[in-house]
Amino acid sequence: MTYAILNGTLIDRSEAMVDIEDRGYQFGDGVYEVIRVYNGKMFTIKEHLDRFVKSSESIGITLPYSIEQLSEMLEELVGKNKLHTGIVYMQVTRGVAPRNHSFPAKEVVPALTAYTKELPRPAENLKNGVKTILTEDIRWLRCDIKSLNLLGSILAKQQAAEKGCFEAILHRGQDVTEGSSTNIFIVKNGVVITHQSDNLILKGITKDVVLQVCAANNIPVEERTFTLDELAAADEVFLSSTTGEVMPIIEVGGKKVGNGVPGPLTSRLQDLFTQEIEKQCGSL
Ligand code: PDD
Repeated sequence: MTYAILNGTLIDRSEAMVDIEDRGYQFGDGVYEVIRVYNGKMFTIKEHLDRFVKSSESIGITLPYSIEQLSEMLEELVGKNKLHTGIVYMQVTRGVAPRNHSFPAKEVVPALTAYTKELPRPAENLKNGVKTILTEDIRWLRCDIKSLNLLGSILAKQQAAEKGCFEAILHRGQDVTEGSSTNIFIVKNGVVITHQSDNLILKGITKDVVLQVCAANNIPVEERTFTLDELAAADEVFLSSTTGEVMPIIEVGGKKVGNGVPGPLTSRLQDLFTQEIEKQCGSL
């Protein structure tokens, strides 16, 4: 049997159902996290749960569980499902209430769900790099909240998929923000440049690990807005995300990055990132 969590209880995955008036289902009124599992262990679990609580609080949802309780629940889920390599998906919505845009007048219990999925590491893409498209960032102005409302990202990712590309790099006018589900980095003259973690992007957990390994290894970093022109002139480009790790980008909008193969600093950061995974989860 495969298990899922529904409101704090481990149940049969096939019996995990939500009400049609769940506000997550009707309004996307909730937040989520995706956590990587290697060797049956969750990577950067604390950082993900901290962000989950922060996202929830920023939309006025008070979680009925402590971080310790959430962590124990997820560990039990991963263990029971015997997940070796994959992800945990978890979300909380404001709960079930008669449809009305404003928050329910009567106190409702937030609905927490979580399940696991087997997902191998993307070995091929990590080695060879991926192609991307460019598209205008049409999302809202609170991209720092890991909201269930993902239409802007979905439409961008679909455009990429239709062009046979892995990711859509988003830009607001001339400024590059992030990918549809990833953070974007460029390398110029040995300096790693990535958008500052403000309201226009998600503060990626993987991004933060990359910045930490840069700091620990004296690799210069500039966290600032960069432009489409800088992206086009970059020596290397890569993305980061929980599922994608540190992934080289070899093409942007039909134009090769450098000579079209993963760059040396990207490869080095991949190695350093892998070491971080191994410190927490054991050898890969
Ligand atoms: N996406 N930016 C956006 C818009 C994202 O949705 C994500 C994550 C990231 C990378 O964040 P992290 O390193 O914490 O995974 C950046 C997840 C994986 C998803 O939606 O599936």
